[in-house]
Amino acid sequence: MELPYQKIFVTGHRGMVGSAFCRLLARKHPHIQVITAPREQLDLTRESDVRAFLEANRPDAIVFAASRVGGIIANATYPVEFLSENVQMAIATITAAYELGVKRFLYLGSTCIYPRMAPQPIREEYLLTSPLEETNEAYALAKIVGLKLCQYYRKQYGVLFHSAMPTNLYGTGDNYHPNHSHVIPGLIRRFHEAKINGAETISIWGTGKPRREFLYVDDLADALLHLISIHNPPDWVNVGSSTDISILELANLVARTIGYQGQILTDPSKPDGTPRKLTDTSLMQATGWTPTIELGEGLKLAYEDFLTGLSNGNLRSQ
Ligand SMILES: NC(=O)c1ccc[n+]([C@@H]2O[C@H](COP(=O)([O-])OP(=O)(O)OC[C@H]3O[C@@H](n4cnc5c(N)ncnc54)[C@H](OP(=O)(O)O)[C@@H]3O)[C@@H](O)[C@H]2O)c1
Repeated sequence: MELPYQKIFVTGHRGMVGSAFCRLLARKHPHIQVITAPREQLDLTRESDVRAFLEANRPDAIVFAASRVGGIIANATYPVEFLSENVQMAIATITAAYELGVKRFLYLGSTCIYPRMAPQPIREEYLLTSPLEETNEAYALAKIVGLKLCQYYRKQYGVLFHSAMPTNLYGTGDNYHPNHSHVIPGLIRRFHEAKINGAETISIWGTGKPRREFLYVDDLADALLHLISIHNPPDWVNVGSSTDISILELANLVARTIGYQGQILTDPSKPDGTPRKLTDTSLMQATGWTPTIELGEGLKLAYEDFLTGLSNGNLRSQ
């Protein structure tokens, strides 16, 4: 696949998604110049700085993987920052990109943009059909602003600005914080520690019955590359694996991957959350893309990455 770009600016290049995309570009398109800027050098919420940076570097495409992200507690404690910083970053970068003639803009959101009670599997057209999940409303609203601004620029000015909405991600560069991590890195860390400590039982939150969908981050990177290479991408599109698994099945799979042989207990006194969250990926499939890393293989890769981070002393856990 040839890409008609000489310089691609990847925002959030130190994050899980941005770094996966940079790795893939370096491997598949080594002739493309990848532009990056650490947050200390360029705070994307500062409109004039973003404009000056784009003017100086002149990328012809931007993949927008920067975001203020966080779990339920962070979202509940700092809704002002989750809304305002994410909206500011999106408006500053999308606006400057248009004004400076950037040919292609791919904005990253997440499936939290869809209504709390969206029918399953979730289709793109369910956006804005009923209320959002309250616990991450501020973040979701900001992401909706980003995707809508891209859609409006495309409609009003004919530029190829569009968005991708990934499902739950895991894999290389994940965050293994003991309390603030997502489900897969959280399970990897806990099962690994249980194995090392010889714990006979391990308890997982809730009944274990809720079903969730997961995508390896390198598959997402491949999907992003595909999306910026096609001529008429959807305004926004779900990127997922289109298969779900119960949390208890997932815990068993993680245990097998890690070699933990103790017993897995559930804790029904803890809340389960939504019973099922699965994206409909037929629109993405219709563009000609499907994922290739199935969950069992992805968990092995993720565990290898965890062990490497642990032995090098640079495991991400903030
Ligand atoms: N992880 C998932 O499971 C998941 C699932 C669905 C969608 N997504 C979406 O994918 C995107 C990237 O997520 P991620 O998991 O890669 O997040 P991440 O690992 O936390 O990376 C986010 C990046 O954004 C940068 N950033 C934040 N605020 C900034 C600012 N004001 N100026 C410049 N850079 C800033 C951070 O810079 P520093 O390195 O300096 O902190 C970091 O590199 C987000 O839109 C997220 O919603 C993620």
